[in-house]
Amino acid sequence: MSHHFIRFRDVHYTYPGGYEALRGVSFLITHGEKVALLGLNGAGKSTLLLHTDGILMATSGEVNIGDVPVTRKTLPVVRSHVGLLFQNPDDQLFMPTVEDDVAFGPRNMNLPEEEVERRVSTALEAVGATALRRRRPFNLSGGQKRMVAIAGVLAMEPMILVMDEPTSNLDPGARRRVIELVRGFDHTCLIATHDLDMAAELCPRSMVMAEGRIIADGPTDEILSDIETLTAAGLWPR
Ligand SMILES: Nc1ncnc2c1ncn2[C@@H]1O[C@H](COP(=O)(O)OP(=O)(O)OP(=O)(O)O)[C@@H](O)[C@H]1O
Ligand SMILES: [Mg+2]
Repeated sequence: MSHHFIRFRDVHYTYPGGYEALRGVSFLITHGEKVALLGLNGAGKSTLLLHTDGILMATSGEVNIGDVPVTRKTLPVVRSHVGLLFQNPDDQLFMPTVEDDVAFGPRNMNLPEEEVERRVSTALEAVGATALRRRRPFNLSGGQKRMVAIAGVLAMEPMILVMDEPTSNLDPGARRRVIELVRGFDHTCLIATHDLDMAAELCPRSMVMAEGRIIADGPTDEILSDIETLTAAGLWPR
């Protein structure tokens, strides 16, 4: 069976403090689909994405990556399939140099060092960050950090790309580069974003979240022209 799909079945998630951030989320994203996840600040987008590679585990309900249920036992296999870009690059970058950060995932997969080097060079080149290779991630600008974090995800060569706000803080050239990278990625892709123009350009399908639920799921052009849905999601001024 394909490993390239993401299935949520009636997923609920309550944070340790007691806030229920996911309130019965169900969907299926099949192989090769590019899907945008839209919704106001606090709607639950990041919480949902963190379930795709088991950073958070459903309080109830089920998350599957292909035929693999996301559980503590399956984390290594799930994480070898899913490349997750965090909303905040500071959560992703922790090594002393950019190249070590990008190499971290491939090294953890026990790939031969030549293959690690090939992936690091290719990924840094793809995001236009080759010149940052020996810099300290900690000292980079916000946009540079994001591009390096994207390189780290690409270096894993995942079958499923999950990105949380990939274009925030990027200058127009860097934003364009990210859009073209995602366009060229021919596997499954789920992207949380406030960049509705990017959603329209890249993702044939959008899901809209409000208060921990998916309130619309369909063709992006229909969703973005449906004022009622956008208003309900807070994406359109009342
Ligand atoms: N660690 C946490 N502990 C408790 N509540 C949290 C935590 N993280 C998020 N929440 C709450 O869960 C809800 C969903 O947050 P989430 O970060 O998933 O929203 P989001 O849709 O990604 O928003 P944004 O567009 O601002 O990134 C919010 O009400 C938030 O306050
Ligand atoms: Mg978020």
